[in-house]
Amino acid sequence: MQTLAQTLSAQAVNISLTQLLLTLADTSKAISVAVRHGALAGVLGATDQENVQGETQKKLDVITNDMLKDTLKADGNVRGLASEEEDYVVEVNAKGEYLVCFDPLDGSSNIDINSLVGTIFSVLPAPAGELNEQSFLQAGRKQVAAGYVLYGPSTMMALTTGKGTQFYTLDPNSQEFLLTDNNVQITPDTAEFAINMSNQRFWEAPIQTYIADLLLGTIGPREQSFNMRWIAAMVGDVHRVLCRGGIFAYPTDNKNPEKPFKLRLMYEANPMALLVEQAGGKASTGYETILDIQPTAIHQRVAVILGSANEVDTCLSYHGIDY
Ligand code: AHG
Ligand code: MN
Ligand code: MN
Ligand code: MN
Repeated sequence: MQTLAQTLSAQAVNISLTQLLLTLADTSKAISVAVRHGALAGVLGATDQENVQGETQKKLDVITNDMLKDTLKADGNVRGLASEEEDYVVEVNAKGEYLVCFDPLDGSSNIDINSLVGTIFSVLPAPAGELNEQSFLQAGRKQVAAGYVLYGPSTMMALTTGKGTQFYTLDPNSQEFLLTDNNVQITPDTAEFAINMSNQRFWEAPIQTYIADLLLGTIGPREQSFNMRWIAAMVGDVHRVLCRGGIFAYPTDNKNPEKPFKLRLMYEANPMALLVEQAGGKASTGYETILDIQPTAIHQRVAVILGSANEVDTCLSYHGIDY
């Protein structure tokens, strides 16, 4: 089986990006060890600090953020970084060619119940000149690489450098990420959806009607039954969609009018959207293709509807968009 380095070489990925992706892969191996030690290492539970999103940080949110920050700072290919757990963008190396946006621990509410968590990352080209927040505000279409690492029963990485989506599995013996699927393809049709149903009464009309029709099953307009799955970690839900199809949505809601969206564009929606598109799926807000959004702030949030192409199209038709 090919290693990650061999696969990137076969894809003719340039040396600086290869080095950066290997840095991310190596850090994720160390994060995997920290996550696996759990209570034995005293890493579970919360801190008394809040991040810029107003969320109480878990100890592992802070630990994994520091691990990524340290290794990326030591990688000369990195110009700057932005993280869910950093209020502001961080300047790294003046000569670095790339910007890295990351969610160091996705699904952190799962950590204390020993359930699925992961790391999500997005790599953008670094523009010339001074580094500031503006340098990062590039549409997702500009990403040169995107991926996530899932700390599940096995540690897996999903990665795209724009040449399809690949899965790698961490070999516990050699500690190498080995290529286990070179051409991930999302089935265009599905009978499975993932959404936090407890927010139902707060959704907009189009998504209310769409989900109601799924729930009607064979007696509704869809004339088929749909099953629901919800891991409460975007990495886990998107991984299932990549493996066997499905539609994942975190739509607009009016639970808190100041926070109509949950997921973050730069380090959650954009990298997942690229992985999904590269696997033949679609990713939208309901009104706009995620990868075409012009970002306005590093921590901005968006509505997300992604997965099996035909099912996303059906959902979009409820939003008055015909495909
Ligand atoms: P994070 O742990 O990085 O803050 O992200 C959590 C996100 C995402 O992974 C998941 O889809 C969503 O929050 C679940 O949130 P709710 O349980 O509030 O619906
Ligand atoms: Mn968080
Ligand atoms: Mn997250
Ligand atoms: Mn997180």
